[in-house]
Amino acid sequence: MKERLDKFLSSQTALSRKEAQKAIKEKRVLLNGSVIRAVDTKVDTESDTVSLDGQPLTYQQYVYYMMDKPEGVVSATRDRAERTVLDLLPPELRRDGLFPAGRLDKDTTGLLVITDDGDYAHRMLSPKKHVQKRYIAILDREPDKSIISAFEAGIVLGDGTVCKSGQAEMLDGCRVAVTISEGKYHQVKRMFAALGYHVEALRRVQIGGLALDTGLRPGEVRVLTAEEAQKVFD
Ligand code: URA
Repeated sequence: MKERLDKFLSSQTALSRKEAQKAIKEKRVLLNGSVIRAVDTKVDTESDTVSLDGQPLTYQQYVYYMMDKPEGVVSATRDRAERTVLDLLPPELRRDGLFPAGRLDKDTTGLLVITDDGDYAHRMLSPKKHVQKRYIAILDREPDKSIISAFEAGIVLGDGTVCKSGQAEMLDGCRVAVTISEGKYHQVKRMFAALGYHVEALRRVQIGGLALDTGLRPGEVRVLTAEEAQKVFD
C-alpha cells in the first residue's frame, strides 16, 4: 500500500499529522536512509523503511490492545469532562484512529479491547456473531439459585426488552459469573435489576476466547498479537 509520509507517521506513531509534518521538516525522518523534505512523499508500506529520530518504524496496519479498564474512566475516544480510556495509553502506544471496541460503564472494570481496526470491532460487536462476554458481578445480597434458570430463559428488562438466553453461575457469597452474547446499554445491571438485585460492582473478564490478562494492573495496557485479538471470535 502507498501512503503519504506524514500520514504514515501519524498512523504509526503518537505524532499528529501536523507534528509529523514538523518532524519531516526538521529532518528527523529518514526514508530508506535518506532525509526527505516533502511531506507528501509516497511511502510503500511493504518495502520502504522509515525511521523517526533514528528509530526504525515497523509498519502495522492495525493494532490491538488489551486494557484492564479501571473505575472512573469512560470508554470513549474523547470526552469534554471525563478522562477516557485513551488518555491512559502510554505515549508509545498512541496513534491515530484508536477507539475502544465496545463500551464498559464508567464504574465497570476489566477487559477492554482498544484498536484502530473498524472492521474487527464491527464483527466483534455485531449481534449476528454472538460473541460471548463474561462478567463477574457482585450483588447487594446473596442470589437465589433461581437466577440461573431466569438467565437461561431470557430475562425481560424493566422496559419490556427481551434479552437472549444467557448463563449465570453462582460463585461465593454475593458473586455471580454471567455470560451474555449481547451488549445492550447497562445490560448486566438491568438484567439483575429485573430480578430484584442491585449490581454493586461489575468486571468483564472474557470476550469470546480472549481472557483478561490477570497480570495487568488497573489501567494498564498490553499489546495483543493479531492471533490473540482473533480469539474473541473463538
Ligand atoms: N453491562 C452493564 O450493565 N455494564 C457494563 O459496563 C457492561 C455490561
